[in-house]
Amino acid sequence: MSQFQIVGGKKLEGEIEVKGAKNAALKVVAASFLAKYPFKVSNFPFIEDTCRMIEMAESVGVKTKKNKNENKLVIEAKNINQSRFSKELTNKLRSSILFAGPMLAREKEVEIAHPGGCVIGKRPIDLFIEGYKKFGVIVRERDSYFIMKVKRLRGARIFFPRVSVTATEAMMMTAVLADGVTELRNAAMEPEISMLANFLNSCGARISGAGTPNITIRGVKEISGGELELIPDRIEAGTFIILGALAGKEVRVKKMNPLHIEALLVMLKKAGVRFRVFSDSVTVVGSTKRLRAVNIQTHEYPGFATDLQPPFTLLMTQAKGICLIHDPIFDGRLMFTDILNSMGANIIMNDPHRVTVSGPSKLFGRRIVSPDLRAGITLVLAGLIAKGMTVIDNIYQIDRGYEKIEERLQKLGAEIIRT
Ligand code: EPZ
Repeated sequence: MSQFQIVGGKKLEGEIEVKGAKNAALKVVAASFLAKYPFKVSNFPFIEDTCRMIEMAESVGVKTKKNKNENKLVIEAKNINQSRFSKELTNKLRSSILFAGPMLAREKEVEIAHPGGCVIGKRPIDLFIEGYKKFGVIVRERDSYFIMKVKRLRGARIFFPRVSVTATEAMMMTAVLADGVTELRNAAMEPEISMLANFLNSCGARISGAGTPNITIRGVKEISGGELELIPDRIEAGTFIILGALAGKEVRVKKMNPLHIEALLVMLKKAGVRFRVFSDSVTVVGSTKRLRAVNIQTHEYPGFATDLQPPFTLLMTQAKGICLIHDPIFDGRLMFTDILNSMGANIIMNDPHRVTVSGPSKLFGRRIVSPDLRAGITLVLAGLIAKGMTVIDNIYQIDRGYEKIEERLQKLGAEIIRT
């Protein structure tokens, strides 16, 4: 198994480019089943998760052209030769469930195993199953496969009892080719959802309200193909800004949209981080000497992104004072703080959703294992500021979400190698 070996303490400087949004790319692959014509996608990140999603599409006959050097993907679901996704593929990531709606729209049936993915707590899919049933889908379970069939998808009114990003995207996609009007209420408002809706509309879909809690979709007979440049990955952008604050001399994070991480930027300013915001970049200077502890609570977009909680928690280990980090969205997303404590941090877990961080603490390198991708990248950042050598195992978890991450960090002067 490959590892990252990191020697901490180097002062980083230079520029780092943000890749296309992973959580947008995954959904566009699933949405491509809605059209019999090609989706031409640029700024497409070729990372483990998107490659798995592409493999799943190819496993049922979808044609793809991957240009990894230019981050371009052409995907054409002209012919779909089967409606069953193998368990081996689908239990690698949660987004696999997103294929169900578009496959039902095309083939009127789908067999898909319960999705896998991160270990950040239980990841139910009740909102998906209930949603598909509202479209008239018959859902049965047989040895951990969902067998779904439908005569004709019919528009539905769906109120999400809790805000769910992928459930919103799944129902929005399913509604595109359904008969009649679908109303989604209490929908998620992430930028990736607006991007997907705008793109599908450019292909002939009729979606309004994306980016607000109320989305209306008027079903159409078919949609055409189209061209799309994915939005930048706001989680990468925020993570690299935090890295600059932790280990920078001066780091410029480029090809990003600062408007997608306003909640983070407000909290970084409160914590005393010094940075300058431009239209498509942020320049941050090393700030640990003046860091102050600030409390955060994660919240659906536009609130503080739960995916940025792990790197921000690390930042708080270097801040003067005590703060409360509250992540009400997932019940397993703070487990990684044990690993930071084993490196010298001082973090108390109050309950699965809350930790108290006291800082600043000096961190020391050691051998650790990456639990999930957002905790994984946080452990890389911890290694970059810890004294001595840090070795990280299970780096597949990091490669799931960050393309060529060690090469991009080396360009900033980081001492990190993949063995
Ligand atoms: C998306 O996951 C992202 N993944 C996550 O990023 C992100 O952390 C999350 O949204 C929140 O922003 C992708 O887009 C592929 P949710 P998602 O459904 O949609 C509960 C990463 O690292 N829920 O918004 O799966 C759920 O348990 C990943 O890139 C149900 O109860 O998250 C959670 O507590 C990690 N029933 C809450 O909703 C359901 O059927 C929000 O989860 C679905 C979700």
